[in-house]
Amino acid sequence: MPDYLIAPSILSADFARLGEDVERVLQAGADVVHFDVMDNHYVPNLTIGPMVCQALRNYGIQAPIDVHLMVKPVDRIIPDFAKAGASIITFHPEASEHIDRTLQLIKDEGCQAGLVFNPATPLHYLDHVMDKLDVILLMSVNPGFGGQSFIPGTLDKLRQVRQLIARSGRDIRLEVDGGVKTDNIAEIAAAGADMFVAGSAIFSQSDYAKVIAEMRQQLAS
Ligand code: DX5
Ligand code: ZN
Repeated sequence: MPDYLIAPSILSADFARLGEDVERVLQAGADVVHFDVMDNHYVPNLTIGPMVCQALRNYGIQAPIDVHLMVKPVDRIIPDFAKAGASIITFHPEASEHIDRTLQLIKDEGCQAGLVFNPATPLHYLDHVMDKLDVILLMSVNPGFGGQSFIPGTLDKLRQVRQLIARSGRDIRLEVDGGVKTDNIAEIAAAGADMFVAGSAIFSQSDYAKVIAEMRQQLAS
């Protein structure tokens, strides 16, 4: 069985008690903290920045923090996130003027790097940068909000990317973000994903451990 990672999106966490809530979801069995950064410019919503990432580290959160940048421009915020304790930094290729430079910047800052594809973003952005990627993130909703429904066309796109990764011979994570629930996670995994972002599916429940265990059970079946 591939090693699957479950990454709760803290967009749906309790922002008034963020440290506590993040600690609780990690204790419940989550692997990675998915940290959604929105700028009310690239996407129509506004969330959190490097200060909050640093605050989580200061609070004692040690799990990898997966920073999903939905901002434009991208580059100037990257060193701030690296200093604030980000482990992975992903960005949308349409939001960067120089994709290779942005990927290199993330790596030079000591983080893992990834590209994010919106549902209608073509995969050709991968053509010349596979050697710089640690993660490919496919959005299965249009970015900006939690709680949307999974767009079924993502399954086919996942299969295509899984093939591209196999052909590259590189160890690249295939992450999926948006509308992931216990009842669709198995078919998403079957299409090739190995890292699952889930916001509302986890944080809307009172027992995080139960949802995460159900997700792992689905992944094992
Ligand atoms: C959407 C964000 C997602 C979102 C997922 O723009 O990137 O990470 O929080 O939330 P759910 O799992 O509720 O679709
Ligand atoms: Zn996200």
